[in-house]
Amino acid sequence: MCGIVGYIGTKNCTPLIVNALKRLEYRGYDSAGVAVISHNQLQVQKKAGKVAELVAIVDSHPIVGTVGIGHTRWATHGAPTDINAHPHMDQQRRFALIHNGIVENYMTIKHRLEREGRTFTSQTDSEVLVQLISLLYDKVHDFETAVRLGLKEVEGAYGIAIICADEPDKLIAARKGSPLVIGIGEDEFIVASDASAIVSHTRQVVYLEDGEIAVLTRTGFTTKTIDDVPVTKEVEEITFDIEQLEKGGFPHFMLKEIHQQPETIRDAMRGRLLPAEGTARLGGLDSVKDRLRQAKRIVFTACGTSWHAALVGEYMLEHYAHVPVEVEYASEFRYRNPVLSEEDVVFVLSQSGETADTLAALREAKRQGALGLGIVNVVGSSIARETDAGVYIHAGAEIGVASTKAFTGQLTMLALITLMIARMKNLSVIEGQRIVEGLQLLPELSKRILSNTQNVEKIAEQFKDARNFLYLGRGYNFPVALEGALKLKEISYIHAEGYPAAEMKHGPIALIDENMPVVVVVPQDDIREKVMSNIEEVRARGGRIIAVATEGDTDIHRLAEHVITIPQTIPMLTPILSVIPLHLLAYYIAVARGCNVDQPRNLAKSVTVE
Ligand code: F6R
Repeated sequence: MCGIVGYIGTKNCTPLIVNALKRLEYRGYDSAGVAVISHNQLQVQKKAGKVAELVAIVDSHPIVGTVGIGHTRWATHGAPTDINAHPHMDQQRRFALIHNGIVENYMTIKHRLEREGRTFTSQTDSEVLVQLISLLYDKVHDFETAVRLGLKEVEGAYGIAIICADEPDKLIAARKGSPLVIGIGEDEFIVASDASAIVSHTRQVVYLEDGEIAVLTRTGFTTKTIDDVPVTKEVEEITFDIEQLEKGGFPHFMLKEIHQQPETIRDAMRGRLLPAEGTARLGGLDSVKDRLRQAKRIVFTACGTSWHAALVGEYMLEHYAHVPVEVEYASEFRYRNPVLSEEDVVFVLSQSGETADTLAALREAKRQGALGLGIVNVVGSSIARETDAGVYIHAGAEIGVASTKAFTGQLTMLALITLMIARMKNLSVIEGQRIVEGLQLLPELSKRILSNTQNVEKIAEQFKDARNFLYLGRGYNFPVALEGALKLKEISYIHAEGYPAAEMKHGPIALIDENMPVVVVVPQDDIREKVMSNIEEVRARGGRIIAVATEGDTDIHRLAEHVITIPQTIPMLTPILSVIPLHLLAYYIAVARGCNVDQPRNLAKSVTVE
């Protein structure tokens, strides 16, 4: 989703801003732009399309200055055109603003501004905000006050950075619902919507909270609320390395991240398993252990791939910890009137920790008195900071828009949480040890899958022109079927549906003919025979089966046209292995179709609008 970069310091900032924008490309965007104060005047260049197109303009018409802002836009209000791209300027060209989020009451403000004689060039809500600030500036003659007063009128969400030609030695940033981080360098400061744009300059950062504004100069910055109350901020350290933001020899971030899984699964467990006791120790949940044991109900809420992980968590916890679990789309949860009590525990799952719907669901859960816990990847993200307690999955920066290693990290974490709660309740030490052993083997087993991907590549080549796919699974692997289908849709633009295998005969079976590839996840577990019967039903109608089955399963070859094998593990952990071939299949199909795998059309990495 939209990316923000702002710079104030002593260097020429245009190349620096453009490079930082490149680091934000993974978030998904459709246009880009920069504004720099040059000789006390604002110079703006912006363009629909990729940052590379902006670079071409900036290279042919260089702008030089030491204060500037840059943006990658993901269109919400107004089509992705040059004019709608950010930065936006006011009518007098005194202010340039970049904005993430949505000004929900922009039409009301716009009409008022039009009555005051303002005219607009774009269709965006963001231009309305900069014009409002400009109008207020005419009255108060002070940059900071005008920004604060303007923001007080905004309903909705924003992360902004704004510069003013009349006060050229300042950069102002503010946030409400859309993340912003300030990087502290030597005689320079960088503002960005995520730390990946900052890490090559400095590791020292300050995270702005909702309702806060920062005024930056070359020598320092102040922070306060938009109601003018000073706030003292803590300086934090970025924990990831610049190498994590590079492709490391892989053609795409997605493939690199799929191949990192033996490590990331291990990292999710590191220091958290207690083999002798057959349990897990999760420091982040220590303070709430009793409430977890006593929980009358656990609610998981999340979006997209994180929601699929939560579904697997439901199966794990109900089976082993005998606690009722519900899984909710965060976007629905926040606008229902969910019935919650203080005895409920609500877990939110989020890779980015910034998903607007998930953050709102967390706030709603806490408002109703439930305990709000997080399973998050990005350290220091908004969700991580707002939960009562929680755990990081430690998957490292996930740059590919399609989530892969974060999914298996979430599943690993859910297995650890299940183990911890179940052992506090009724699970025997022997059974706990069996799960611990299963978990410890996962890095090696996932490595085995990844050591031979040619089979998947060949299948992808054969099915790359299919128009539809069906994905089937049962039990722990039903959510994996959903995930496989989502990934294929996202990056290859092939229509795909995920279904519980037995549910297929209640409708989707009508779609099956000799052109329909059906991917079935059928590992060796308690429910395998049932899934085999569902496969027979597909075969009887001519469907083409691609099976993900356990090594040594010879019977499956009788029914399936293609078989991808995964090593044996305990049923609860199979999704962590079975999803790997499905992510690979989606990847290779998308590559074979010539799609932009890391930045699929219309998608954003971190969905900070509802
Ligand atoms: C799918 C994908 C999305 C995200 C969803 C939630 O590949 O990436 O469906 O899973 O937008 O994002 P997070 O986990 O960051 O809250």
